Amino acid sequence: MKIILVAGARPNFMKLAALSRSLLKNNIDYVLVHTGQHYDKNMSDIFFEEFGLKKPDWNLAVKSGNHADQTAEIMKKFNKVCDVEKPDIVVVIGDINSTIACALVVSKLSNVCLAHVESGERSFDRSMPEEINRIVTDVVSDYLFCATKKSKLNLLNEGVDENKIFLVGNVMIDNLIYYLSKIERCEIGGDILVTIHRASNTDNKVNLEIILSALSEISKKASVIFPLHPRTMKKIREFGLNFYLNNISVVDPYSYFEFVRVMRESSLVVTDSGGIQVETTVLNVPCITVRENTEWGFTLTEGTNTLVGVNKDKIIENVFKVLNGDRKYKNLTTENQMLLDGKSSNRIVEILKKG
Ligand code: UD1
Repeated sequence: MKIILVAGARPNFMKLAALSRSLLKNNIDYVLVHTGQHYDKNMSDIFFEEFGLKKPDWNLAVKSGNHADQTAEIMKKFNKVCDVEKPDIVVVIGDINSTIACALVVSKLSNVCLAHVESGERSFDRSMPEEINRIVTDVVSDYLFCATKKSKLNLLNEGVDENKIFLVGNVMIDNLIYYLSKIERCEIGGDILVTIHRASNTDNKVNLEIILSALSEISKKASVIFPLHPRTMKKIREFGLNFYLNNISVVDPYSYFEFVRVMRESSLVVTDSGGIQVETTVLNVPCITVRENTEWGFTLTEGTNTLVGVNKDKIIENVFKVLNGDRKYKNLTTENQMLLDGKSSNRIVEILKKG
């Protein structure tokens, strides 16, 4: 069985690490394809170093571009990789442009199965590029590996054959659990850790200004650490909004170990990321999500997450509510505890082995 694992951008690498460990534990080698969607050292290489991942067998080096260019470039190059490697299974992860690009290539090859890890997640907001990536990837996948019961239900509602759906749990949390005891505790946790990179928040000046002005207000009374994603940094400069950051500790994007260390020590996290909503729930750290919707509904009802939208007053009000002790605690159902048990990638590998 020849397997290609595809990864392209930061949120893929934690999941790749967990899958890689499980495959190697089963003595299954794999071909690693890095699309090069993310290419800065602290958006890519640093994770390979920390996780001890092998050097990619193929680096497609596509870098940035508009969605069409980036997706098309990956498709052209990945098709050639498949011609040479002749895989039996291609595994794609998550909801980024690399995921949909490689999924589309595989869908038109004969005798190659496509496995999608983190299948069925839906925000039901088709203005998000990630939502289109998820839907299209799921339509053409042969193995749909779900992290939550809700994601399985979403797929069933879309008419996916139940035999293709496997509720295996959250692979990103496999990695968190694996490294948690190995990551030393630290003192640098501030009151508030912020991550903002979602296109709807960064590329829209009104939304970006609402978020930055809220953070600026908050930073007058509490310490705020803001590791800046390159997209966000570019847009802050372009829109001339730097002055909102005066009181905020702005740092370069953290490595995984640094990020987990700071997240664990923070009083709360303000984010628009998907994965961080789940990680904060697992760590029992309060999370305020600056989005109108979420794919990770259980973090609102059973976890530490609160959805506040892009609303200055609500962001400020909810941050101070938490800092004043009025916060949510993790209260997971037995089923969700099982799906966050650190063994999801082992379950995936067992299923792939059966063929
Ligand atoms: C992508 C994913 C998003 C994921 C995020 C994590 C899509 C559609 N979006 O968004 O789901 O949450 O990754 O970061 O795939 N840039 C650099 N260096 C890099 C990478 C990016 O400077 O190594 C800058 C470039 O200016 C680029 C911009 O960031 O134009 C956006 O990068 P891109 O990969 O298009 O999307 P992300 O916003 O990172």
